[in-house]
Amino acid sequence: MPYSVAFFGATGGCTNASLASLILFSDYQAIALARTPQKLLDSLKKQPGITDAILAERLSMVKGDATNVADVKRTLLFQADNNNNAEPKLVDAIVSGIGAYPQRKKGTLITFEMDNPNITEQSTTALISAMREIHNEQHSENKPVVTVISTTGLATPAGSKEDVPFGLQTLYHSLLAEPHKDKKRMEEIITENAALFRGVIITRPTLLSGDGIVKVDGVRKTVRAGTEDAPAKGYLIARSDVGGWIWENVLKPAEHGEKWYGRRVSLAY
Ligand SMILES: NC(=O)c1ccc[n+]([C@@H]2O[C@H](COP(=O)([O-])OP(=O)(O)OC[C@H]3O[C@@H](n4cnc5c(N)ncnc54)[C@H](OP(=O)(O)O)[C@@H]3O)[C@@H](O)[C@H]2O)c1
Repeated sequence: MPYSVAFFGATGGCTNASLASLILFSDYQAIALARTPQKLLDSLKKQPGITDAILAERLSMVKGDATNVADVKRTLLFQADNNNNAEPKLVDAIVSGIGAYPQRKKGTLITFEMDNPNITEQSTTALISAMREIHNEQHSENKPVVTVISTTGLATPAGSKEDVPFGLQTLYHSLLAEPHKDKKRMEEIITENAALFRGVIITRPTLLSGDGIVKVDGVRKTVRAGTEDAPAKGYLIARSDVGGWIWENVLKPAEHGEKWYGRRVSLAY
């Protein structure tokens, strides 16, 4: 069976870019949960070289919600070529870029709030519950590698070095303090439950730009990757390069990102 990867939040630019790279540059199996499958197909067809025919052959989609344990479980166990007698095979890797959208707060002109301020906590809790159920039901010792997209500016764990450049510190440490609480909870939950996974990689990109369209030709900017003790501080990173980093450093290599297991990986130019 080919190496299989489950994607959550793939209509978002970062995860879309890692899914598109996997479809374009490998024979790995791709499974994606989407609330609106047509939105996912439309976003992937904007990627260079991806056609309806390629998607029909290479992508399996599960329509569902990332906060629903049954939907998440179906995604993690979805294998196109399963025969009915075999125990469903758990995916080999998981990538999650689930996030909330800013919206104008009711009754205000310029105050924004997140449409669901707890979405990454809720979706991570659902992922852990689904993994626990699968772990209790299955005889296999296989465990997937999980990569989640968090953010810089969390100042955790205690003693971590500042990973936000000076010019972004007011934005990150004051205005974004609320949404960052949700990302902190996600990091805590996934770290507390690390034993369910072969490895946990928390990526922390700086401020995101662009639409996640993969650059196949031309010169790409160099992405710097740092860890808690030596963070990569920077002002911007394109969504396509976050997805590209996950593809090139976690999904594609034969050791599937082992050197980053247990690390919080800051990403910036
Ligand atoms: N903006 C920044 O500068 C910045 C910086 C660092 C980190 N981040 C974080 O990086 C991550 C990736 O960002 P991005 O811009 O690439 O993506 P994004 O536009 O934030 O996309 C969020 C994704 O989450 C999905 N989603 C939300 N609720 C869901 C639910 N209940 N069930 C299933 N899917 C759900 C959305 O699906 P639908 O299409 O169905 O809505 C979408 O695919 C996010 O977590 C974001 O918060 C952002």
